[in-house]
Amino acid sequence: MNFWLRPLAIVLGLGFFAMLFGMGRTPSGWMLFALGLIGYLAYNLRQLKNLSDWLADESRPPMSSTGVWGDVLYRLGRLLKSRQGAQQKAMADLEQMLEATRNLPDGVVILDDEQRIVWLNVAAEGMLGLSPSRDIGQFVLYLLRNTRFSAWLASQDYARPLVLESPSARDRTLSLQIVPLPRRQKMLLARDITELTRVEAMRRDFVANVSHELRTPITVIVGFLETFDDMPEADPKQFRKHIPLMREQSNRIHRLVDDLLTLARLESEPDTRDEQVDIPALAARLADEARTMSQGRHQVRLQLDSRERLQGNGQELYSALANLVSNAVRYTPAGGVITLRWGRVDSGGAEFAVTDTGEGIEAQHIPRLTERFYRVDRGRSRSTGGTGLGLAIVKHILQRHQGRLRIESVVGKGSTFIACFPAERVMPGAVVPAPESPSAEA
Ligand SMILES: Nc1ncnc2c1ncn2[C@@H]1O[C@H](COP(=O)(O)OP(=O)(O)O)[C@@H](O)[C@H]1O
Ligand SMILES: [Mg+2]
Repeated sequence: MNFWLRPLAIVLGLGFFAMLFGMGRTPSGWMLFALGLIGYLAYNLRQLKNLSDWLADESRPPMSSTGVWGDVLYRLGRLLKSRQGAQQKAMADLEQMLEATRNLPDGVVILDDEQRIVWLNVAAEGMLGLSPSRDIGQFVLYLLRNTRFSAWLASQDYARPLVLESPSARDRTLSLQIVPLPRRQKMLLARDITELTRVEAMRRDFVANVSHELRTPITVIVGFLETFDDMPEADPKQFRKHIPLMREQSNRIHRLVDDLLTLARLESEPDTRDEQVDIPALAARLADEARTMSQGRHQVRLQLDSRERLQGNGQELYSALANLVSNAVRYTPAGGVITLRWGRVDSGGAEFAVTDTGEGIEAQHIPRLTERFYRVDRGRSRSTGGTGLGLAIVKHILQRHQGRLRIESVVGKGSTFIACFPAERVMPGAVVPAPESPSAEA
């Protein structure tokens, strides 16, 4: 309403003045009215031109005015400002999205409708061996030359990802996927699945190994049972003769299942119990156990260079160190010497070392000894009651104590297995009289 009032007031005002000058009777009254109207029209046309110029070039300072024009300009200015704000926000959001995509750990390549590269992120450069400065605008098939990739891209069926060796690093495995985009563009996604593939292969190997290890003793036991079943009249003495072998095979299954359960527990229990473990007392107990196990075939020595205790899980530490000691006994021929030593090292940490004068280990086997079921001599390990899981358990337990296993060995001379612990785990010892050794059993 206000909008019409002001122009109406101006026209009526002009008429009023014209009337005062005798409008209708003298020509000068009409002239004055017409001149007033022309002036008002000219003013409006000028404002309209200014507005048109300003709209053509938004960088000019906004025009200011009063009256009807003031209202119009104020509303227009407000509209433009809010539109500009929304535009700026959209641009900032887009830039943020692009920046995130650029730094995504997965490779992203945008292809146009003819499969030429439009854009790619940093990860795609490394994984696919592409370079933005060189390869944008190129056909992707010329750059990633691989028959399986070409066939997959041509198939138009991208429901299943394509697993491919990385063109830039042969030891990496990639999983490629295609996501359709508007305007017949495509997004090629590349994910590095090397680690996943490795874990999957390890899992398969592990299951195969466990099945294989269990099959032999089970076959032996089942074989005996079937034979007895076939001979219902057989002499019980005949039967008893085979019991020791059956018991040996059952023990083997038992040991294997125990070790598997230990490993599973170590993997599933995130944290280790914390107590002060009296390693000197534990070492003395292990030396006694070694003597029992050796049955006089070896000389067992105990060398305690320090009375330090260890912050950790007594049961786990017992299990790890007992594994090292039992290996030394089992892999050292009669007449050998086995030494258990506990002492500080320069770094502030401490070491538990088991040295034997046994057969030794060739250098190429050493890095693999802690792998599950890895054995230098499978037959020898089995015949002495080994499962091939002992050192894998040791490694796990030491890792849970921020420690590590070091192995030194000379073929024909002997080996030293050293459990190294960091300074944070070492506690001053000999404050309390030696308590009972940990309650754990191997
Ligand atoms: N003290 C040692 N002397 C020689 N070889 C050893 C010794 N300790 C371990 N090994 C080798 O490392 C392999 C893996 O050890 P481990 O994991 O304890 O399995 P195992 O059940 O066979 O003892 C053994 O099979 C053996 O070949
Ligand atoms: Mg062992």
